[in-house]
Amino acid sequence: MQIVNTVQALRTLIYTWKVAGERIAFVPTMGNLHAGHCQLVTAAQQHADKVVVSIFVNPTQFGAGEDFDSYPRTEAQDTEKLQAIDTDVLFLPSVAEMYAPNAKTVVSVAGLSELYCGASRVGHFDGVATVVCKLFNMVQPDVALFGLKDFQQLAVIRTMVNDLNMPVDIIGIDTVREANGLAMSSRNGYLTPAEHQLAPLLYQSLCAAREAMVAGLDYSSVEKQALSALGNAGFQPDYFRICRSLDLAQAQQGDTELVLLVAAKLGKTRLIDNMSVAL
Ligand code: PAF
Repeated sequence: MQIVNTVQALRTLIYTWKVAGERIAFVPTMGNLHAGHCQLVTAAQQHADKVVVSIFVNPTQFGAGEDFDSYPRTEAQDTEKLQAIDTDVLFLPSVAEMYAPNAKTVVSVAGLSELYCGASRVGHFDGVATVVCKLFNMVQPDVALFGLKDFQQLAVIRTMVNDLNMPVDIIGIDTVREANGLAMSSRNGYLTPAEHQLAPLLYQSLCAAREAMVAGLDYSSVEKQALSALGNAGFQPDYFRICRSLDLAQAQQGDTELVLLVAAKLGKTRLIDNMSVAL
């Protein structure tokens, strides 16, 4: 596996692959890799000749008071994991390499970026869209893979790619879960052992809501029940929403392709999860 730290070195490499007609898959990450990330890389290998993984803890997607400084940086372990699964290139840029001090351009997907997680993390999705756009320009991938766990992020990226005619196919890969149902996340490492025991209730709240919807309970009651179950269990819920999968608009009774989106804090840790429901 080659490790590349500069855009120029990356471009040189990408150029040789493009000239040789090779297909490139890209998996952008912020590191602290877990089984979910490895699944993305393995899936990427099915879609291309070369796989590039980036690790960049992107400052512009963290708000004031969020965990940018404490976000786990585990480069040595991440490098070993990527090597073990035959990643071709690890792109590991510094903040200075990614952002010129006088950078003025922000990519913003209006509307979608202000909903749900965007309402409590103002500017977060602008940071995500901007860095993913920049990374796409650097890597020039034919295909890029993202975890479905960050469902709203994936919707923002798909919209950006579509609106800006970016020549990259976006593939969403199923969430990898612990045996107890807890979605794998780099932030799970913040949980205390007691919180870790409670955390699977987030997934259970999605399962219970899906059952209630299938049984015909109205959506607003389903959302209220889920919020109070989470609150009673010791979470501080941010939102629990039943949305249309297509555009994440609030679902109306009669819509058929739905997704349940949830975010809640457990102690100091903000957890998100989601579940698709076809009625
Ligand atoms: O999902 C993530 O890890 C990040 O939001 C991403 C897509 C790598 C952009 O920094």
